[in-house]
Amino acid sequence: MSRKPIVAGNWKMNTTLDGACALAEGIASRANNISGVELVVFPPFPWLVPVRDILQGSGVQLGAQNCYVKESGAFTGEVSPWALSGVCQMILAGHSERRHVFGESDELVGTKVDATLAAGLTSVLCVGELLDERQAGNADVVVERQLKAGLANVSSDMLPRLVVAYEPVWAIGTGVAATPADAQEMSAAIRRWMSSKYGDEGAAVRILYGGSVSADNATELFSQTDVDGGLVGGASLKAESFIAIAAAAAGV
Ligand code: PGA
Repeated sequence: MSRKPIVAGNWKMNTTLDGACALAEGIASRANNISGVELVVFPPFPWLVPVRDILQGSGVQLGAQNCYVKESGAFTGEVSPWALSGVCQMILAGHSERRHVFGESDELVGTKVDATLAAGLTSVLCVGELLDERQAGNADVVVERQLKAGLANVSSDMLPRLVVAYEPVWAIGTGVAATPADAQEMSAAIRRWMSSKYGDEGAAVRILYGGSVSADNATELFSQTDVDGGLVGGASLKAESFIAIAAAAAGV
């Protein structure tokens, strides 16, 4: 079964309302030139609804960068995946900034995956090792630990709504992407792990690479056997570069 590539833009804590709308318009107006690739953008929470309205009919999907794990209640400042289910299609779980700036544990990330899937949305589980973990030869162990906790309660019938993003922390926002060979090696390890836990359905899950993806390196990264597209931060903040990266995914 062929895996349709995904190019996802994580806008992080960037854009004003006007800037977000302009970026969404720029992407929506160029998206019809791209075929065979799923495009999705993850704006900051308050811009989800205006961006959704702009993306209407463009085929570009919408996602949220984070969520809490309860359906509703006294959780000041948090956002429920069940509330988001009327607004967007996907939610990130365990982005490295959530793990390392906000101290989210592997277990909390797992409950966010569960809540997102229970609410009927697609969960994009982000995994990836720190530089010192890679240098110590522990990258595989760390990623496996994150997968194990992140997917502890996920059954194989949920897998069509799961995406895994491999994002080595040392490559995020640094301008130094993983080499295509390193991205491939870890993506293949993730696919093997998915296959051993879930069989063929696990092996069919899409695995994205993230960390300093640009229009210049996208083709080489995306042409790796087990890399099914990218999660793009900085280069997703300009419609031209985001669409150029999408075109790279379409071309491989
Ligand atoms: P970057 O961010 O492309 O700016 O490195 C990727 C991410 O954090 O998802």
